[in-house]
Order: sequence, then structure tokens, then C-alpha cells
Amino acid sequence: MATTVIFFLHFTFFAAVFSHLPHASAVSPEAQALTSFKLSLHDPLGALEGWNESSPSAPCDWHGVLCFSGRVRELRLPRLRLTGRLTPRLGELTQLRKLSLHSNDINGAVPSSLSRCVFLKAVVAGHGLRRKQVLGSSPGFLSQLRSLTALSLGRNGFSGRIPSDLLRLSGLEALILNENHLTGDIPSGITKLANLSVLNLSFNRFSGEIPANVGDLKSLSVLNLSGCGLTGRIPVSISGLMKLRVLDLSKQRISGELPVELFGLPDLQVVALGHNALTGVVPEGFSSLVSLRFLNLSDNLFSGHIPSNYGFLKSLQVLSLSHNRISGSLPAEIGNCSSLEVLELGSNRTYSGANI
Ligand SMILES: *[C@@H]1O[C@H](CO)[C@@H](O)[C@H](O)[C@H]1NC(C)=O
Ligand SMILES: *[C@@H]1O[C@H](CO)[C@@H](O)[C@H](O)[C@H]1NC(C)=O
Ligand SMILES: *[C@@H]1O[C@H](CO)[C@@H](O)[C@H](O)[C@H]1NC(C)=O
Ligand SMILES: *[C@@H]1O[C@H](CO)[C@@H](O)[C@H](O)[C@H]1NC(C)=O
Ligand SMILES: *[C@@H]1O[C@H](CO)[C@@H](O)[C@H](O)[C@H]1NC(C)=O
Ligand SMILES: *[C@@H]1O[C@H](CO)[C@@H](O)[C@H](O)[C@H]1NC(C)=O
Ligand SMILES: *[C@@H]1O[C@H](CO)[C@@H](O)[C@H](O)[C@H]1NC(C)=O
Repeated sequence: MATTVIFFLHFTFFAAVFSHLPHASAVSPEAQALTSFKLSLHDPLGALEGWNESSPSAPCDWHGVLCFSGRVRELRLPRLRLTGRLTPRLGELTQLRKLSLHSNDINGAVPSSLSRCVFLKAVVAGHGLRRKQVLGSSPGFLSQLRSLTALSLGRNGFSGRIPSDLLRLSGLEALILNENHLTGDIPSGITKLANLSVLNLSFNRFSGEIPANVGDLKSLSVLNLSGCGLTGRIPVSISGLMKLRVLDLSKQRISGELPVELFGLPDLQVVALGHNALTGVVPEGFSSLVSLRFLNLSDNLFSGHIPSNYGFLKSLQVLSLSHNRISGSLPAEIGNCSSLEVLELGSNRTYSGANI
């Protein structure tokens, strides 16, 4: 699964002031830096072959290069099967706003010289950098990228703890580190990222619990901690996540009853809690979540009956309750769920729309 989250957020344009223009025959320093970038990579599809230093507006007319006022603003080279290393000369592209290299096979670290790119807003390199490395291996580098609003580094083989430097990127709106080998706790300091809207830490090797103060992330709309190795309960502070639309806490060892605070989050559309150790009766409270499209409670320890008030869930498309300790029959009111497409019940039975 490639990382393709792309954010264009509040770009502020700073006019570049040139005291003198480069002589027509001189190769611009940014073109030289990009040529060095090209030479440090193997390019099996020949995507960078057309990068011609002699072309009149080099490097601004090169494939994957976007300029503003003659300076490189974005480098977008996803899915090109590029291999090799990233040259530190990337740091010479000091007006760079966005670096998108996801779905390549580039070795080694993001060069620390990128800290010179002080306007950088988004680094999208998920499934792109493939050698095992510690996420915080370039101390101080991350924290200097003060303008960063999106950091997407899923599927890169990162290990170690979430570096504290990263928690100083207070402008971050999306932090996507899924499918790495990160360990340790999810630090409670993550709530310093007060503008965070998307937090995807799924499929890592964390330990410990969901931070008790997670509800301080008031802007959060997507929380994906699936397969993170967490234990403990869902904190009651979750009541603070009033903008939450997607909650995925599936595939770990979360236990206890669901906090009633969960049923007060008005925008919830996707609730994935399958494969945990949750207890209590199947909660009636979900019936108040009128936007709910997807509810997966399967493979837990829920007991009791299927609540008849789920019939109020007019937007519900998927309801999965299989592998629990639920008794009784399917209430007729479920027939009122007019959007329902998939209903998974029992230990192994699946009913689909037409049969309801
Ligand atoms: C991160 O999670 C969000 C929401 O759960 C999801 O849409 C997105 O695809 C995930 N990112 C990756 C790279 O899988
Ligand atoms: C590079 O651009 C120059 C100037 O436009 C042109 O003369 C030359 O043929 C180009 N080289 C290649 C390899 O395309
Ligand atoms: C958080 O977002 C608000 C509203 O967009 C903005 O005014 C503020 O500067 C942001 N905070 C940081 C630390 O970037
Ligand atoms: C959470 O992220 C994983 C990728 O790591 C993705 O497969 C899953 O679909 C996401 N969950 C939701 C609800 O989007
Ligand atoms: C519900 O969650 C379980 C366990 O995580 C998973 O196996 C199942 O495929 C999910 N069902 C749907 C419809 O997504
Ligand atoms: C379901 O619809 C029937 C009428 O078709 C109505 O009498 C009943 O109150 C509804 N129940 C729920 C839970 O929506
Ligand atoms: C449920 O699973 C059991 C054991 O795998 C199997 O024997 C049985 O036929 C299944 N029942 C249905 C309705 O699929």
C-alpha cells in the first residue's frame, strides 16, 4: 500500500529576490544539485533521462520539478522504481516546499541537509526509503523543519522510539508513520502537536497504552493505531476528539468496556475495533452516531444482544459483530438500516445485503 497522502496547506509565498540573474550559459546551482540527485540514483524507467542542464529553463522544465519564480518548489517523483541514495545536495533546494518520493526503493536516511529547506511543508516518502534505520538518526534535523505540516514516512523500516525532536514540529497536521518497526510508548508529548488532524501510527511495535491525554488533540479527524501492539483501555479523554471521523484501534490487546464518551463524538464515520479484548454488552450507544458508516466490533468479548436501536443507523454500510459472545437473534429493526451492505455475525457466517 503506497503512501499517497498529499497535502497542500497554507502555502505562503515568499518572493525570491535576485540581486543578479545567472548568465544564460551558466547552469543554475539548483539544476546542478538535481543533477547530482539524479546521478546518485539508479533510474530503471529512465524517468530522469530528460533532465537536460542545457535546456533554456533548467531545471524548471524537468519532469517532476515544479518551480515558482525560477526556484524549485516541489520535487515529485513517486512510483519510479528509483534506487540508490539521496544526495545531501537536496539541501541546496532552499525554497523546496514539498518532497514526494513515495513508492520507490531508495536506501538510507533522509539527508540532514534538508534542514536547510526551512520552508518544507511536506515530506512524502512512504514505502520509499528502505533500509532499516532509526527515525531520529539525524538529531535536530527534524525539529528544524518548522514549516512542516505533513510528514509521511510509512513503510520505511524505521526502528527505535518516536524521537522527541518530532514532537517539536508543532505545525504538523498529518503524521503518518505506519508499517515501520517503531518501539516504546506512544509518547504523551504527542499532544504538543496541537494541529494534528491525521495520526496514522498503525502496524508498528509499540508497547504500553493509548496516551491518557489523547483527547487533547482537538483537531484530530483520523486516528489510526491499528496493529500497534497497545494494551489497556480506551481513555475517557477521547471525549475531547470532537472532530474525529475515523477511529481504527483494531488488531491489538485493548481491553475493558468501551467508554460512553465514544458515543458523544458526532462526526464518527468509521469505528474499527476488531480483534481486541473488549468486554461488556454490545453498546446501544452507537445508535446515536448518525454518521456511522462502518462499525467493526468483531473478534472481541462482547456479550448480550444486538441492540434493536441500531435500526436508527441509516448510513451504516458495514456491521461486523462476528467472533464475540453475542446471543439472541438479529432484531428486525436492522432491516431499517437502509444503507447496510455487509453484515457479519456469528462465528463464521456472513450475510450480505440481499439476504437481510
Ligand atoms: C493512514 O490511516 C488513514 C486513515 O485510517 C488511511 O486513510 C491511510 O490510508 C493510512 N495511510 C497509509 C499509508 O496506509
Ligand atoms: C538539451 O537541450 C539543448 C538546448 O535546448 C539541446 O540543444 C540539446 O539537444 C538537449 N540535449 C538532449 C540530450 O536532449
Ligand atoms: C495551528 O493552526 C492554526 C489555524 O490554522 C494556526 O493559526 C496556527 O499557527 C497553527 N499552529 C502552529 C504551531 O502552526
Ligand atoms: C489504518 O492504516 C492501515 C495502514 O497501515 C490501513 O491498512 C487501514 O485501512 C487504516 N484504517 C482505516 C480505518 O483507514
Ligand atoms: C472486522 O475486523 C476483523 C478483525 O480485525 C477482520 O478480520 C474483518 O475482516 C473485519 N471485517 C470487515 C467487514 O472489515
Ligand atoms: C423501524 O421501522 C419501523 C417501520 O418500518 C418502525 O416501526 C420502527 O420503529 C423502526 N425502528 C427503528 C429502530 O428504527
Ligand atoms: C462454521 O465453521 C465450522 C468450522 O469451521 C464449519 O464446520 C461450519 O460449516 C461453518 N458454518 C457455516 C454456516 O459456514
